[in-house]
Amino acid sequence: MNNFIAYNPVKLHFGRQVVRDLGKNASHLGNKALLVYGGGSVLKNGSYRDTMEQLEQYGVQVVEFSGIKPNPRVEDVREATRTGREYDVEMVVAAGGGSVIDSAKIIAICIAEGCDAWDVMKGRHEPQNALPLIAVLTLAATGTEMNGVAVLQNPETREKIGHKNDLIYPRHAFLDPAYTLSVPENHTAYGIVDLTAHCLEAWFGEGDASLSDRFVIAIIREALEYGPALMKDSGNYELRARIMWAATNALNNLTMYGRKSGDWGVHALGHILSFLYDTPHGATLSIIFPAWMHLMRERAGERITELGKALFEVSSVEGTINGFKSFFSSLGSPVRCSETGIDELKKEEILELMNRNRAEGFNYAISDKEREELLSYMW
Ligand code: NZQ
Ligand code: ZN
Repeated sequence: MNNFIAYNPVKLHFGRQVVRDLGKNASHLGNKALLVYGGGSVLKNGSYRDTMEQLEQYGVQVVEFSGIKPNPRVEDVREATRTGREYDVEMVVAAGGGSVIDSAKIIAICIAEGCDAWDVMKGRHEPQNALPLIAVLTLAATGTEMNGVAVLQNPETREKIGHKNDLIYPRHAFLDPAYTLSVPENHTAYGIVDLTAHCLEAWFGEGDASLSDRFVIAIIREALEYGPALMKDSGNYELRARIMWAATNALNNLTMYGRKSGDWGVHALGHILSFLYDTPHGATLSIIFPAWMHLMRERAGERITELGKALFEVSSVEGTINGFKSFFSSLGSPVRCSETGIDELKKEEILELMNRNRAEGFNYAISDKEREELLSYMW
């Protein structure tokens, strides 16, 4: 087991109508908030109304910034930062999914520091401060509500990358599963894939940590059992709650203690598809994880089989891969690029950007030639 520091400062409020505690907690953080949200789903699922009511009730003034896109862009973060600085806000409140909360995390740094968002993402500016952040989560997937990670893309540099920083853990996260009842079928499925993929990235990380391994297996079992059930019964609050809590735990450090790192190669490769074709994050993972395991069949063969034994009662690499493929397909998430409409003629373009951005993991390096091989398994 590697040395580690266990740290997670997020006060997470989970369950029906927990947003009733938002106003009081926000008023302890300041008098003026920048409320960040996306394309309008929050106006329909009740989270915007409830958040506004709370802020008004406790006398917190609100400046709004909407229009954050899925696969969020650095330009929107820059614009929101300008708004926040202009109005001198003292905190950021984010209502939405991972794209909104990730953007809000970097906005919170840039308002406090007056720095450029991409300098933060690239590690050229090392922030010392961030405004306090409150997250109201409306989509179960990324785990961003309880971690210190943000992912943004930059069309100019042709990158989609992550930034990790203790300053950007939300102070409070409000998770009412009822807000996720309106998440459409495809994004519900992508969320279940994403939480599974976070467990897999941990599993294939560097270092031997038996308890973290058991957490991985337990969380994937939740996904295997309640994911398909939820796809058949999307209005079921209990199932929404189970998946929401599983997604949080899949990326709140729990599966990482005692490891040096996760792998994160599949995420890095997936970000290339999201960048090029705006493919939703979860869809990139259900396509690439089976292909990546096939590429790693020798290097990581034992580890893949161990996973298959624990989850699918199979004793081979191929059995394990097929287990995941059928699981992802049963949710309705693609396991081949062709299912998302990405033509095989795009292979060159994808390979070029994957190689240029050196998409690979921390534990299993991937050469240019191997990326080409990987692509051959993706259609
Ligand atoms: O924009 P709006 O109108 O809000 O609509 C969103 C968006 O179209 C919609 N939505 C959200 N909640 C809804 C809803 N629709 C109906 N009802 C609701 N309750 O869903 C669409 C997708 O939203 P998005 O926020 O993009 O999805 P997700 O939560 O999956 O976030 C994906 C982003 O997070 C990054 C991904 O790379 C991607 O950019 N990730 C962040 C991580 C982190 N911070 O730890 C880790 C992950 O591995 C991931 O990389
Ligand atoms: Zn992910």
